[in-house]
Amino acid sequence: MLRIGMLTSGGDCQALNAAMRGVVKGVCSKRKDVEIYGFQDGYKGLIYANFKMLTSQDFSGILTRGGTILGTSRQPFKKMRDLDENGLDKVEAMKHTYHKLNLDCLVILGGNGTHKTANLLREEGLNVVTLPKTIDNDLWGTDMTFGFQSAVDIATDTIDRIHTTATSHSRVFIIEVMGHKVGHVTLHAGIAGGADVILLPEIPYDIDVVAQVIENRSKSGKPFTIIAVAEGAISKEDAKLKKKEYKEKVASRKYPSIAYELAEQIQSRLDKEVRITVPGHTQRGGTPCPYDRVIATRVGAAAAELILKGEYGYMIAIKNGKTAKVPLEEVAGKLKYVDPKDPLIKEARMIGISFGDQ
Ligand code: F6P
Repeated sequence: MLRIGMLTSGGDCQALNAAMRGVVKGVCSKRKDVEIYGFQDGYKGLIYANFKMLTSQDFSGILTRGGTILGTSRQPFKKMRDLDENGLDKVEAMKHTYHKLNLDCLVILGGNGTHKTANLLREEGLNVVTLPKTIDNDLWGTDMTFGFQSAVDIATDTIDRIHTTATSHSRVFIIEVMGHKVGHVTLHAGIAGGADVILLPEIPYDIDVVAQVIENRSKSGKPFTIIAVAEGAISKEDAKLKKKEYKEKVASRKYPSIAYELAEQIQSRLDKEVRITVPGHTQRGGTPCPYDRVIATRVGAAAAELILKGEYGYMIAIKNGKTAKVPLEEVAGKLKYVDPKDPLIKEARMIGISFGDQ
């Protein structure tokens, strides 16, 4: 008997179901003696042994379904060796569930935080295979995460729709794009949507440069400006602050997010109407785009191959267009940022997109 535990952890994204389907179809095409334990709501399900028994049938017809059939939750840890309110050591509890159910392995789908815990479980002797999910595409060790392209499509669609109304009203529009601490989604959606200014966490901006771009556009007969700003974007001024000082500043700011701060700064400099659009969680919702379905199916199938060979301790990545296995200890705790020297940035600058820095 092959006993597989499976869980999805962290913020959801498109194609989680497609990836799980890939794993299960792959394994069940070669072995009939398979038991699948679907842990509910991320690591919590493993800690408290909250699971349901699933069959390959449960993974049929879910390729196009958004969200996750297992439910998910953010990391249930403040620190790695965390106790719950009843004094239960969460890591010990997860090990206990794993051994009690006599599992052969865990398949864990998640992003950065999820990978830290997955690596810890590996260090504790559990057999773990992980799949790279997140709209942010910030997982180290893989060129691509599933969810990313779907989020780019949605953010691009938002920018497209804003374009027409911004033009009609000669307004400045700020579209705030998700991505946590990195700017991959904003960079791609900004270019695809024809944004005039793209502000990323990796390239601190100068508000006077942004204002100048708007002014120059107006003077050249383009009275509207589209700004795609990453939710984690930071000004040059704030980038000089110490991490703690910046955190305090963000916590005490009167605005709900960066887009609002930016709008006020622009309005205090220019006589322009500024509007804000925040697509928010729509970027993570709904049907995965075909590209994500393909990526998810590929990493799912590659994970199935590892499980059938009994090879554990890896994340399945996409590298140079191929699936690859990356040791979990190399992935855990590292973020993949946008490289300001990325040719994409150079090309965007070539066509006149401003990153607000020069
Ligand atoms: O990591 C995915 C993500 O959507 C980020 O882009 C965003 O910052 C965060 O999750 C939002 O988290 P939550 O759904 O917990 O509000």
